Amino acid sequence: MNQVARRLVGDDFFAVHMTWGAVNELTTLRFYGVIRSRTRNELLRTLLRDVMAQEAVHYSFYRNVAIRRLTGNRRGQCITRWAMEHLWSIVGSGLRSRADSDRLVLDLLGADEGSLVPRIDAQLERIPGLTDLGLLQRTVDRARDSSISRQPPRFEERRRATSATFAAASAARLSS
Ligand SMILES: [Fe+2]
Repeated sequence: MNQVARRLVGDDFFAVHMTWGAVNELTTLRFYGVIRSRTRNELLRTLLRDVMAQEAVHYSFYRNVAIRRLTGNRRGQCITRWAMEHLWSIVGSGLRSRADSDRLVLDLLGADEGSLVPRIDAQLERIPGLTDLGLLQRTVDRARDSSISRQPPRFEERRRATSATFAAASAARLSS
C-alpha cells in the first residue's frame, strides 16, 4: 500500500507520512495528558509524565520534517490535506471496533467541553496546508453522531411507544 502510494504521489508521500505521524504523536500525547489529569496514582503520574516527554520529542520531529517538506510546496499541501481529511482516522482505531474507538475519543476528548480539542487543532493547523482543517473537532463530532445513532431508543421514546400500543389496544377493545 505504502509502495503504491509512494509511486503515485512521489516525494510528497513523505510529507503526508510526516504530517500523519505528527497528528498521531500529538493526539497520543494529549490522550496521556488527559489520563494523567484524572489519576492521583503517583507512580502512574510519573510514568505518564516520562512517556509524554518522549511523545513530545516524537511530535516535534514529525512536525518539523512535515513543515520543512510542505513550506512553499502547494502540491504537497493539497495532497497532505486531502489525505488527512479523507484517509486519516484516530490513532489505534484499526485495532478496535468502531464503537470502542468512538467511546475512547468521546471519553478522552469529547468530555472536555473546554479548549483541549481546539488547542490540538490550532497546533496542527500550523503545519502548512492544514489551515482551518479542524481535524480533531470533526473526529469528536463524528464519534458523537455515530454513538448517538447506536444508542437504544431513550426512555421517553419507549414510553411514547408503549402508550401508543396501549391506546391502540384500548381502541380495539372499545370498537369490538
Ligand atoms: Fe510516539
